[in-house]
Amino acid sequence: MLDDKKTIFSGIQPSGFVTLGNYLGAINNWIKLQNDYNCFYCIADLHTITVRQEPAKFRKTAVELLMQYIAAGLDPEINIIYCQSHVHQHAELSWILSCFTYMGELQRMTQFKEKSQKHSDNINAGLFTYPVLMASDILLYQTELVPVGEDQKQHLEITREIASRFNKIYGDVFKIPEVYIPKAGARVMALQDPSKKMSKSDENANNTVAIMDKPEIIMSKFKKAVTDSENEVRFSETKPGVSNLINIYCAVTGNTIEQTEKEFSSGGYGVFKKAVGEAVVAKLEPIQKKFYDLQNNKDYIDTIIKNNTERASYVAEKTIRKVKKKIGFLPKV
Ligand code: TYM
Repeated sequence: MLDDKKTIFSGIQPSGFVTLGNYLGAINNWIKLQNDYNCFYCIADLHTITVRQEPAKFRKTAVELLMQYIAAGLDPEINIIYCQSHVHQHAELSWILSCFTYMGELQRMTQFKEKSQKHSDNINAGLFTYPVLMASDILLYQTELVPVGEDQKQHLEITREIASRFNKIYGDVFKIPEVYIPKAGARVMALQDPSKKMSKSDENANNTVAIMDKPEIIMSKFKKAVTDSENEVRFSETKPGVSNLINIYCAVTGNTIEQTEKEFSSGGYGVFKKAVGEAVVAKLEPIQKKFYDLQNNKDYIDTIIKNNTERASYVAEKTIRKVKKKIGFLPKV
């Protein structure tokens, strides 16, 4: 059913429109890798309910995320694009692996600390065991490579730890996955506050560019982006705003930092910000057009969901059976 290629797994939460951060940190690389690997890309909706969701909006966001995957260039014929909650084995493996994960390990997770601060009125157990579900997503498909942004690195480390622990007891059940983090775009920062990462849930709309933002909105967000009091396009830790824009420009155009610094050595920030905005618009416009076409093609989307769920479930079931057998659960008759 799968080619003799290595396996990739990754996912995005349906908690809003895909941001430029999600696109440059994750999807853009998925597209580059899609022909060389067997790829599983999920709509990570089980993860999303750690924060309360309004049902109708949640459903819409999930299907729109799937459409954004395809519009961005992921071919649903060669990639297995599906919804996590449609493949029950994710939740099943998550329970099993939670019995092989220590409280102390989960307490150390930066994302848990950050999210429990942000949602202090709803610090649920799911928020705490979130990394176990993520490990289950990855391990269920015998994944070898996980292309993600830098913020997911710690989750990959714990995944490797859980897999190794399980393998030590039961033999080689899981492949141990490697993380794949892009050179440019691994950490896109908020445009108004480059000390924090660009995030779907940011309250200040000017911090975030969504891949579905209209061109004039994108241009205006880049125009307003925070820089510094110098007027020099130079990559430096002491220039977080400008460095973030350079990073975005490099990720979108494929240019190096040196090339970018040279290209904008005169003209100042105004010219540079306009060029970054234009490069982003040029990259996103065809994606937006394809997204609108897909919106009129509901049957096609339904067929993709149906076929890909079956393909994912088949592989997931193989792993879960093996896991249950190794643990010693009574076989089903
Ligand atoms: P999520 O939905 O927060 O983000 C999805 C992907 O986008 C990357 N990303 C960024 N990259 C660069 N700059 C940014 N500002 C930025 N913001 C987000 C993330 O690193 C990620 O690659 N738990 C995951 C989803 C998930 C998953 C998985 C990922 C569920 N199961 C298994 C990999 C493997 C999450 O919340 O990602």
